Amino acid sequence: MKTFPKVLEWTQFKSTDPKVENFFRSALTSMIANRKSMANRSKHNDYLQLMVNALNKTADNNSHITGNSAEEPDDTERIYGQRDEKPMNSTKLKGELTEDDILANTVLFLVAGYETTASLLSYLSYSLALNDKCQQKLYEEVMSFDGKYDYESISKMPYLEACVAETLRLYNPLVVLFRMANEDYKLGDTGITIPKGMMVNLDVQSIHRNPDYYPNPDRWDPERFLPENRDQLAPHSYMPFGIGPRNCVGMRFGLMEAKTAVVCLVQKFRFTRSVNTCVPLIPKKHEFILNCGEINIGVELRK
Ligand code: HEM
Repeated sequence: MKTFPKVLEWTQFKSTDPKVENFFRSALTSMIANRKSMANRSKHNDYLQLMVNALNKTADNNSHITGNSAEEPDDTERIYGQRDEKPMNSTKLKGELTEDDILANTVLFLVAGYETTASLLSYLSYSLALNDKCQQKLYEEVMSFDGKYDYESISKMPYLEACVAETLRLYNPLVVLFRMANEDYKLGDTGITIPKGMMVNLDVQSIHRNPDYYPNPDRWDPERFLPENRDQLAPHSYMPFGIGPRNCVGMRFGLMEAKTAVVCLVQKFRFTRSVNTCVPLIPKKHEFILNCGEINIGVELRK
């Protein structure tokens, strides 16, 4: 789609089932109509409302919708990278935001938010099932908070953070990142120039499993991401949420959502390796979202 957009236009090929598209289109049309009416405008403080406010306006008169955080990076940003929220150069953003743009962004939010977080939870449960010592360590950390599981306490669980980060290294849900060159770009002294307009695919999986950056790369080892070991990580060798100004907007939400689910599960259940557990998992080729087929593990209720 991204590599041959003209072919897509010419063949009129649709990658989405028309029934699904119609469902989202009609749901969104009525929501937008509702949001546009003065009576409802002030009641919503969400992403859809930001887009509705920006409808039919150009980027120039919408600079207020991007923030610019100059704050010190916190722990999440130290591991996963900072969100560069400088307003984009408006001369590069042509045209107005249309209802089709809102529709595309709404569906993107659903797809980007659900599949990735669900995938993180599957691979983390699987990794815990195969590494009982790590699971026990995580269980003890979780139990030390004595049932007080809120935003603040979950942010203070370094071993949980490390388990999540290591899972996203070995099993990053989006295996490839895409970028289009904005200008001719010389790649150091390699003699290679990426021409303006060329699509570049970044194979994040290979970087995450490169032994130069991660010794024993196929081993799931949360210790790599404990605060005392993090300075051994090579810069830019870890990007499960992408990189730069277009990295994942849902990063903090996705992490907190997944961590909350893990905490609730780990305190009640123990994951085990069963006869149906496949080791190792083999990622399928040519997939945009990581797909290792079925993941089977055992689940025991803790006493
Ligand atoms: C573990 C969970 C998640 C992972 C691993 C993940 C990963 C990613 C990655 C790798 C990208 C591409 C970034 C780039 O090209 O540099 C991305 C983009 C995006 N993600 Fe996530 N994501 C997660 C959760 C979420 C959630 C929960 C939401 C929404 C609530 C979300 C919304 C988005 C959106 C809208 C984009 C496109 C951003 C843009 O193009 O500017 N993601 N995500």
